[in-house]
Amino acid sequence: MKLFAFVSVAVVLLAIGQTDALGGSPHVLCYYDGGSYIREGLSKLTLNDLEPALQFCTHLIYGYAGINPTSHKLVSNNEKLELDLGSSLLRQVTSLKKKKPDLKVLLSVGGDKDVVDPENNKYLTLLESSNARIPFINSAHSLVKTYGFDGLDLGWQFPKNKPKKVHGGIGKFWKGFKKIFTGDHIVDEKSEEHKEEFVALVRELKNAFRPDGYLLGLSVLPNVNSSLFFDVPALINNLDYVNLHAYDFQTPERNNEVADFPAPINELNERNPESNVNFQVNYWINNHAPTSKINVGIPTYGRAWKITKDSGLTGLPPVAEADGVAPAGLQTQIPGFLSWPEVCAKLPNPANQHLKGADGPLRKVGDPTKRFGSYAYRSADDSGENGVWVGYEDPDTAALKAAFVKTRGLGGVAIVDLSFDDFRGACTGGEKYPILRAIKYKL
Ligand SMILES: *[C@@H]1O[C@H](CO)[C@@H](O)[C@H](O)[C@H]1NC(C)=O
Repeated sequence: MKLFAFVSVAVVLLAIGQTDALGGSPHVLCYYDGGSYIREGLSKLTLNDLEPALQFCTHLIYGYAGINPTSHKLVSNNEKLELDLGSSLLRQVTSLKKKKPDLKVLLSVGGDKDVVDPENNKYLTLLESSNARIPFINSAHSLVKTYGFDGLDLGWQFPKNKPKKVHGGIGKFWKGFKKIFTGDHIVDEKSEEHKEEFVALVRELKNAFRPDGYLLGLSVLPNVNSSLFFDVPALINNLDYVNLHAYDFQTPERNNEVADFPAPINELNERNPESNVNFQVNYWINNHAPTSKINVGIPTYGRAWKITKDSGLTGLPPVAEADGVAPAGLQTQIPGFLSWPEVCAKLPNPANQHLKGADGPLRKVGDPTKRFGSYAYRSADDSGENGVWVGYEDPDTAALKAAFVKTRGLGGVAIVDLSFDDFRGACTGGEKYPILRAIKYKL
């Protein structure tokens, strides 16, 4: 009896060790983009600004390293950072562990921040030859070791799905007539080979990391089709986690004529069934990934379209006759993109209630369905100007995603990224990192 009890405990411990390599769930993996260190003005996020976030993060993922296309080595990606700071930022980031000893700090490669030639994608050519994989693995191991990281996050830049185009007639019948043209676009002629080779890369990396106990995680980047590139059963045992970056399904760059929710939890319409968090999570679970290894990526920003007089007055998505990217936010300066504090400043508040035109408040709709995300908009004026539609994540919708993670028994969330949350507390009366907090409290 005693022996039986002992064996059961051992079996249970073994099972936990195998399925929960990151240790005690739920996990909050926080992305810190080193590029935000060198922004100008209020969107510059220094290591001091980072500190209040650390109490909520179990892991800090620093990005982004890139790949040298000729040597195939892992290199620090941000030339300006290297110029300004040498490699001291890498060391300062891993030194944050002194402030929070149980914090794990990983280095991320790729993450859609590395420059890639679509005709000769270095992430694919590296996979294709075992001679190219070796310098990558060796340099990755040595960078992780030299700078004191706890592991590597593979934000591998596979080619992306082409957007499904939604076309429609103009006017009130538009919704009834909408059609989706998918075309027969082939994302990657050699996806089957690349899928196998990626399994080999992950296995070889894990073998190199094992003696030091370094973590190895996979980031499935937005609009990368898991069924084309990831052999889940063959990969999963060599991965400590998988971050599903299930957002940016609809963006003004991808879908410039139709504004719609960028990162819904649930299916928007039956013709586009894969573009939501739920589908992405189910895909990995149905292919036998342990739920404890799956983290849901939650963005801290919105995607903003310019809308026109023909887009109508209701704002109800999908919004037809959009006209590409809305003007950049004051701080982040990225067209069609607004950080959460930038969105928040455009929602109705005492400072903007009497303003007009481009400075006037947006009408906030929020997410009454709790399924798709929040949006806010301003119809175009009589001269066709100043129309904006923004679909965004806010503390409430992020909490809904955290609740989804909890209900489904997943490993946790990956927040992308800290610099677009309201890290100064400008919006919420001084409370810093409101999206991160909302996630943490819900988990
Ligand atoms: C992903 O690839 C599968 C084929 O493996 C295809 O059926 C599916 O439509 C693709 N998904 C998207 C969103 O393009």
